Amino acid sequence: MKPDLSAVKLCVFDAYGTLFDVHSAVGPHVQTLGAQAQSISMLWRQKQLEYTWLRSLMGRYVDFQQVTAQALSYALQAHAVSDATLEQRLLHSYNQLASYPEVAATLKQLREAGIATAILSNGSPAMLKAAVTYAQIGDLIDQVISVDDLAIYKPDPRVYQLALDSFGVAKQQVLFYSSNAWDVAGAVNFGFHVAWINRFSQPPEPLSHAPTLILDNLQQVIPALGV
Ligand code: 2OP
Repeated sequence: MKPDLSAVKLCVFDAYGTLFDVHSAVGPHVQTLGAQAQSISMLWRQKQLEYTWLRSLMGRYVDFQQVTAQALSYALQAHAVSDATLEQRLLHSYNQLASYPEVAATLKQLREAGIATAILSNGSPAMLKAAVTYAQIGDLIDQVISVDDLAIYKPDPRVYQLALDSFGVAKQQVLFYSSNAWDVAGAVNFGFHVAWINRFSQPPEPLSHAPTLILDNLQQVIPALGV
């Protein structure tokens, strides 16, 4: 049965993995990193996420810039790479991530249909500003919302509440998009309509009810919204 999304007034996007390709950070450094490039990138992302969850549980928040730097440091050490200049260059590349090809067109179409758009991300305000500027999508996003003021990471329900507070809308008026299955579970648990952008055909996580939509890319949500 087609889900009823007629109440949706606000589309909220996760940033990393959903709008921005986190693995593009190693792109300019593939020759230097050699055969380990992909494995380093995967471990970098895995540790970055683990550190957000662990720090939230321990009550030891540091911002996502620091988490990202610490995760990179771990990933490089685990691959026996010791090169401070390269480490700084990789971190710098994280501010210049490639956006997925359908991102700008999807945001534009939503805007033209009168639907508000937002980013809700673990990213620090400075990182998100850099990523949005690099992707040239600043004009297509109404608000960029960071967890930083709360000092806790997704999937804490207070993070998803930030979107409601920022726009003064109700849960059923929001469609939340994420490629990260754990974030999807968090948003479903909170009570949003959720579109899981399952870019890499991963199995579902048994952490929540099923999301409203499971799609391959962001653009596929447009017909489901009927705009
Ligand atoms: C986010 O952007 C980390 O992908 C996650 O919040």
